[in-house]
Amino acid sequence: MNFEQTMEIYRGMIENGLEACMARESIPLKLREAMAYSLCGGGKRLRPVLALAACDMFEGNLAAALPLSCALEMIHAYSLIHDDLPCMDDDDFRRGKPSSHKAFGEAMAVLAGDALLSYAFETLSDAALLWQPQMPSYLVAVREIARAAGASGMVAGQAADLEGEGSNVSAGRERLRYIHTRKTGAMLRASLMAGAYVGTPSDAEAAALSRFGGLFGLLFQITDDVLDEEGSLLTLGKTPGKDKAAQKLTYPACVGLEESKRMARETAEEALAVLEGFGERAEFLAALTERTLMRKN
Ligand code: IPE
Ligand code: IPE
Ligand code: MG
Ligand code: MG
Ligand code: MG
Repeated sequence: MNFEQTMEIYRGMIENGLEACMARESIPLKLREAMAYSLCGGGKRLRPVLALAACDMFEGNLAAALPLSCALEMIHAYSLIHDDLPCMDDDDFRRGKPSSHKAFGEAMAVLAGDALLSYAFETLSDAALLWQPQMPSYLVAVREIARAAGASGMVAGQAADLEGEGSNVSAGRERLRYIHTRKTGAMLRASLMAGAYVGTPSDAEAAALSRFGGLFGLLFQITDDVLDEEGSLLTLGKTPGKDKAAQKLTYPACVGLEESKRMARETAEEALAVLEGFGERAEFLAALTERTLMRKN
């Protein structure tokens, strides 16, 4: 199967999984509408795809990895809703539609985010109970996700991102790396690790995958920063030029656009070199890395 076919299968599983999660009738209607608006409304599905691909690489059961994937996308959707709020990045658009607070009001957007985060961990606990024989490795996966999402991971990165607004860019390289590896890199790396633990990676394989995840995360956020400068509302589905306006610590702000692109290429090459150790098993992730370097949204 080629890259596109595999991607279609993964995305199909993910869309169905997410729809099923949102079919729960005990969630009050308005809240459910707001949750589904952000969860089922498009997006690249990168985190859940990474989890399924890593699971496949280590011969795990994809059905057992699907709840992990849905939970990862729920956490991601919550992070986007909150990231767009006026008190954070204040963006009126996401995925080509009005952002959650524009469509449902700020209070409901905050609550939809809260609900998605809790629902993610409920989904993970349910799955751990369902896949009893695998429970220990499942819990390792859940811990990866919790750490990546929380106060030393994504939330730490988001806090540093906001604190870094307006700060001196020349003093910012270390800080920038801190922000990017956490606000974005942590969840991408955890998606790979969580999926892998549904299968049976050796310690050395897990360490190599983790190294790849760190590089892939950095690559992804450098390209996000570049696209914020070069992309359009139409291609990105979110407002471009916001980083400069908010004086964010980004790669283009610190090292310039051309150097940012060079660093993205270098990071992609390093990531691909790590994957070489996995041979053919890593073909999908290698193609995804190349596409991430070239991406337009
Ligand atoms: C956007 O993530 C937020 C960042 C971490 C840069 P994505 O670019 O993966 O957003 P969607 O899910 O495809 O909309
Ligand atoms: C946000 O980074 C990362 C998250 C945890 C949501 P950005 O603020 O750069 O993401 P976009 O550009 O709004 O998607
Ligand atoms: Mg932000
Ligand atoms: Mg933002
Ligand atoms: Mg951005």
